[in-house]
Amino acid sequence: MKYVIGVDLGTSAVKTLLVSREGTVTAEASREYPLYHEHSGWSEQEPEDWVRGTTECLRELVQASGVSAGDIEGISFSGQMHGLVLLNGENRPVRRAILWNDTRTTEQCREIEKTLGDNLLGVTRNPALEGFTLPKILWVRQNEAASFEASKRFLLPKDYLRYRLTGGIHMDLSDAAGTLMLDVANRNWSPEVLGAFGIGAEFCPPLVEAGACIGTLTAEAAEATGLSPDTKVFAGGADNACGAIGAGILEEGLTLCSIGTSGVILTYEGDSEADYGGKVHFFNHGKPGAFYSMGVTLAAGYSLSWFRKTFAAGESYDSLLSGVEDIPAGSGGLLFTPYLVGERTPHADPDIRASFIGMDGSHTRAHFARAVMEGITFSLNESVDLFRAAGKKADRIVSIGGGAKNPVWLQMQADIFNAEVIALENEQGPGLGAAMLAAVGCGWFRSLDDCATAFVKRSRSYRPNAANAERYASLFRVYQDVYAQTRGLNQALSSFRNG
Ligand code: XUL
Repeated sequence: MKYVIGVDLGTSAVKTLLVSREGTVTAEASREYPLYHEHSGWSEQEPEDWVRGTTECLRELVQASGVSAGDIEGISFSGQMHGLVLLNGENRPVRRAILWNDTRTTEQCREIEKTLGDNLLGVTRNPALEGFTLPKILWVRQNEAASFEASKRFLLPKDYLRYRLTGGIHMDLSDAAGTLMLDVANRNWSPEVLGAFGIGAEFCPPLVEAGACIGTLTAEAAEATGLSPDTKVFAGGADNACGAIGAGILEEGLTLCSIGTSGVILTYEGDSEADYGGKVHFFNHGKPGAFYSMGVTLAAGYSLSWFRKTFAAGESYDSLLSGVEDIPAGSGGLLFTPYLVGERTPHADPDIRASFIGMDGSHTRAHFARAVMEGITFSLNESVDLFRAAGKKADRIVSIGGGAKNPVWLQMQADIFNAEVIALENEQGPGLGAAMLAAVGCGWFRSLDDCATAFVKRSRSYRPNAANAERYASLFRVYQDVYAQTRGLNQALSSFRNG
């Protein structure tokens, strides 16, 4: 039997999957690494932690599976988007990576809007948001002159990891789309954007398709992981593009709900014509020539992991969530907004913060846990709502990630989205999409669509419960009001956050 490996370089951990030619996940390994929040709104990681964690996982996969290294034909990657890795002339990071959920760059975003005007949306197809890469580059240039002076080029997280395993410098289009420097429709670095900010072409890595074979492992990487130096390496893609591939979102009419650290509602776009006026993100897909639109909740799974860490340290999610099914829809009037690190869609606002509204002496911890799940899902429903308002259908939603592991949450998604929610049998998120890129690259299938027919298996489908859907529809209007009602309060509180 032949195998491929999918590596998902996430925000809390790296997850690796060994997948057989039949699409079965034969072995898994994962390693966590720290996030550094030195100031409110900052979020950084040490690139070396990604390399160490991935190397350990790959070694474990080979050893624990007992599969001969020669039978592992290919490897590919999915990565957390937008993170800035600045490299010096020897291709070593000059500072820690600044991540997608870091919101220090508001000033730079305003500068980008002013400088590019209508070209911003016209060329990059996206608004200037704190999480994207260009504002981070400008921040480092303006605030850490010595680091910037030493920087000769930039990479995104999974591209740095792949560089360390292969020695080759590349970036795939689906990830490059999140830098705000790509001409998304024409698939090249935008001379207008680079020129406007005095960024030289040599600062940007060569672009490739997500499925491109970019070589094999270096002898050192093969030695450290136990893989064969002949293992073919495929570029890979942005985690949301890979999540879409792994969930079979490869044609019009399908929507994805993915709850990782962030949460996204993503819809497939066959061409670059769609125009949401910058209200949602618009990026290149990992499927050649295709695109996707997406709304992002910054703290989706993160809200639940924050709640567990803060109020139930050491407890499992099963224990934390036990009893939520007995609490009626609406959590007894307790409402949570998940703005723990600011928000992206529909409120691009780095200063907003989360709220529990409506606390009552009768509420138990289970009410709070359910309110957190509902608040995350309401936030994602704002994106579903945006798509529907723009005339896009969102009546069949494939659910992956943390939200798909719990049947109560899947039913809650169906009730709040008022749509059919489909769970997958082999729910492996973006790592499976990365493995599929490698499987197609190795020639096992003619296309990602053919691979999805074999690898992506749907299991249960959840239909809205009419009474709950109606109850949630009226509660959603209250939820939507919380942002406007708490905005001023949070602005007033922002000066107290760092001291
Ligand atoms: C997408 C985004 C997040 C990260 C999480 O724009 O910022 O979904 O990709 O890894």
